[in-house]
Amino acid sequence: MKNIVLVGFMGTGKTTVGKLIAAETGMTLLDMDTLIEERAGKTITEIFAEEGEPHFRTLERELAHELSLTSGNIISTGGGIVLNPDNIADFEKTGLVVCLLADAATVLERVKNDSTRPLLAGDKETKILSILDSRKHLYESIHHKIDTSGRPSPEPTAREIIDLYRSFQS
Ligand code: S3P
Repeated sequence: MKNIVLVGFMGTGKTTVGKLIAAETGMTLLDMDTLIEERAGKTITEIFAEEGEPHFRTLERELAHELSLTSGNIISTGGGIVLNPDNIADFEKTGLVVCLLADAATVLERVKNDSTRPLLAGDKETKILSILDSRKHLYESIHHKIDTSGRPSPEPTAREIIDLYRSFQS
């Protein structure tokens, strides 16, 4: 059984949608940021502050490779997974990779009260606009994409992904 790999910018709903798919299908949800935090014994914010972003990207790269060797799981990635093309290439080998998209206003609405994302510390709107702009082509290059902008609830997105996954399994 293939994995379902959820990719997309911060605040596009990867973890929320992943939980819904897990509840509906009984598949296990593996959240990459949570696994990185558990293994490091510190939060993502602490890893960025104490060891720097390059170290975080190394941990992320190693975990992506490891998880790409599993099967039948839902893998919720961090928003920067697309920065290293090897991550996507690995996940494509054993999984259905789906990119969730959202416009800047939707992202801002979803993350406005969040303080756990080091890359958005400070002026959130400015950071979102500039990071989204620099990564847009990477998210757009993923074959399966769902635009979640303005969608009030994550359920239809989860449903769409389950249907897509089942169409590939049968
Ligand atoms: C990041 C996204 C975060 C987390 C880290 C870096 C990024 O994950 O991996 O803060 O570079 O976009 P979420 O997409 O789950 O917020």
